[in-house]
Amino acid sequence: MTTVLLIHGFPFDHSQWRHQVGALPGGRCIAPDLPGAGATRGFDAIEDYSVASYATYLIGVLDQAKVDQVVICGLSMGGYIAFELLRRFPDRVRAAVFSNTKATPDTAEAKRGRDLLAAKAQKEGAAGVAGELVPKLMVQPEVVGEVTKMIERQPVTGIVGALRALRERPDSTPLLATMRIPVLVVAGADDRIAPAEGMQQMAHAIPGARFVVIPRSGHLTPLEQPRAFNAELGAFL
Ligand code: MLT
Repeated sequence: MTTVLLIHGFPFDHSQWRHQVGALPGGRCIAPDLPGAGATRGFDAIEDYSVASYATYLIGVLDQAKVDQVVICGLSMGGYIAFELLRRFPDRVRAAVFSNTKATPDTAEAKRGRDLLAAKAQKEGAAGVAGELVPKLMVQPEVVGEVTKMIERQPVTGIVGALRALRERPDSTPLLATMRIPVLVVAGADDRIAPAEGMQQMAHAIPGARFVVIPRSGHLTPLEQPRAFNAELGAFL
């Protein structure tokens, strides 16, 4: 039986995958909250947050569930963590799905943006973060309320920690050409954070990867266009 590990993005939690959990044919899903998100306790210190520590945490989740190999499916930050899983624990990964993500690291300007958002989170709380991000995330108005609420319930320390993990993440482009597993790359046609053109280039660099663009979707394709996303994921599985 195929087990799919669904890895959420920033600043979200497992509920981002509510249309996928239970809907995938012939398989089982594990959709944890990452440390410092949703119901999962954060790491002890902000310095402990990194894509490596998230990846190690997820391997612990798989060990506890007694699952050896999985199909990893990460959205945006979840994709950055998926790259880290492939670097550190390749034997645990049977196939990979990269949704609304990129392999490149943060530019100096993006890092400055992380610092400003962390300061905003500390000053205004998660609501300030939601106010800043929500207008950039989606094109489907019917999910705006749900995503706003999801961001507003995230703990500030988890948000600040995740921003540290994002700004310090390594360049994953050297990994792309080395991948020897089945890979699906899913872009949202109107994603402003991980634009489809960049995702296409990323997919071209991965041997044999399938690339799809889902119309009428911003950065949260699994939530904005669940039917189309699930059809692609189901066919891939
Ligand atoms: C995410 O959805 O995880 C974030 O947009 C990632 C990022 O800001 O790089």
